[in-house]
Amino acid sequence: GGTPTTATLHADKPGPTYDRHIFTQFAEHLGNGIYGGLWVGNDKSIPNTNGFRNDVVGALRDLKVPMVRWPGGCFADEYHWREGIGPQAKRPVKVNTNWGGVTEPNSVGTHEYFELLRQIGAEAYISGNVGNGTPREMAEWIEYVTAPAGSLADERARNGHKQPWALPYFGIGNELWGCGGNMRAEYAVDETRRYSAFIKPVAGTQILRVASGANADDTNWTETMMRSARDQVDGLSLHYYTVPGRGTWPPKAQPVGFDEHDWADALAGARRIDDLLARHTAIMDKYDPQKRVFLAVDEWGAWYAQDAGTHPGFLRQQNSLRDALIASTTLDIFAHYADRVRLSAIAQMVNVLQAMILTDGKKMVLTPTYHVFMMYRPWQDATVLPIDIVTPWYAKDQFTMPAVSGSAVRDKAGVAHVALSNRDPAQANTVTVKLDGIAATSASGQVLTGAAIDAHNTFAAPDTVHPMPFSAATIQNGVLSVTLPAKSVVVLDLR
Ligand code: AHR
Repeated sequence: GGTPTTATLHADKPGPTYDRHIFTQFAEHLGNGIYGGLWVGNDKSIPNTNGFRNDVVGALRDLKVPMVRWPGGCFADEYHWREGIGPQAKRPVKVNTNWGGVTEPNSVGTHEYFELLRQIGAEAYISGNVGNGTPREMAEWIEYVTAPAGSLADERARNGHKQPWALPYFGIGNELWGCGGNMRAEYAVDETRRYSAFIKPVAGTQILRVASGANADDTNWTETMMRSARDQVDGLSLHYYTVPGRGTWPPKAQPVGFDEHDWADALAGARRIDDLLARHTAIMDKYDPQKRVFLAVDEWGAWYAQDAGTHPGFLRQQNSLRDALIASTTLDIFAHYADRVRLSAIAQMVNVLQAMILTDGKKMVLTPTYHVFMMYRPWQDATVLPIDIVTPWYAKDQFTMPAVSGSAVRDKAGVAHVALSNRDPAQANTVTVKLDGIAATSASGQVLTGAAIDAHNTFAAPDTVHPMPFSAATIQNGVLSVTLPAKSVVVLDLR
């Protein structure tokens, strides 16, 4: 059904690398994002290794999570790293003022974070405290983490880790325009310059400095940072959340149990990032045509009303097939900007906002978003292959969008991978893709779909939305032809 879609895949005109750091995950001290979701400490009833639950770590390792952004978020600009080192029993118990007013035991601190990274095989991206910290506190944290010798290195060794850790990415605060200090761009840029001066990598190592960036369409922020701090940083952040329901705050749209109006609202909202990236990257291009400074979309995802009955401020929300399409839509759009967008972090990894994984006590379930990230694993560090798609429009009420989204890459082994999503919830769509510069003769892969637009996984029914083998794709005479089911994400390997 539906008007067919035609596309051309330009494998003969390869683009930039799709940086694996685009698949970074954000884990904040927020709700059960860390406590309960990742860390169970000495709770013997949940199998764990050095305090981190084996089921969740295993699922994240399978996903090849390249990097974890920590400890916030808003939490980062009130975090004092010294409170999270040394014997657990001596660590101060604080109040998490940003997220639900619950106590923060400081059980997960620097050593535990790096232990988590070791277990899942990921790199470090720490956000420093600019909001109520000092440049000295930040510099000493970096020294504690990275120094091979000196008193802080000795202290680290006494606390159980003789070897310095690698700290490839470091955030200079978070949302300095808001929870990070209510700063005007003009003030934040000077603070950024000052803090940047005290981020000093050990000889022979590198720490990429990421400036706190704009909220959504605040292009003045990007302009100010690029004009006056581009030489002091390596990356500039941008945060953008998909909030259906026309900007009502706190978000009121439901994560499940919604109708087609809300489906279209959310997917149209996710597509807005294309326009935002066009505008922010144009400003960056003006000041930095060489594209030395990368754009780090280090918070993105859907933000709905939190699940009924969950603790206020924990931002716990179910995750449905709609979120899978938000993820694929966003990852496809990043392909267009991969020369500039070289880092992104979905918010957040476990139990918070658009999560990969939900837990409840001993139970764990993988979300549709997890499955999309799994299907897109070949995108990590592969070469972007431009794909031009001419597709019918899908419309519901005031929301309109191209029905089909897509992106393509070629991996290091030379295999091309194509992702195609059908945002139309009712009509299948047959896509024919002219393959320029690809000799493949067969296409196989997986499809993620469900019976309902809000199909989702629960602890009782964890496999309702699960990738299935996909066979409705053929290649003949250099043309790939794929029939996408309604509301589906399909990823194919061309061989
Ligand atoms: O991800 C939740 C919060 O959203 C983060 O702490 C903050 O940076 C943003 O406002």
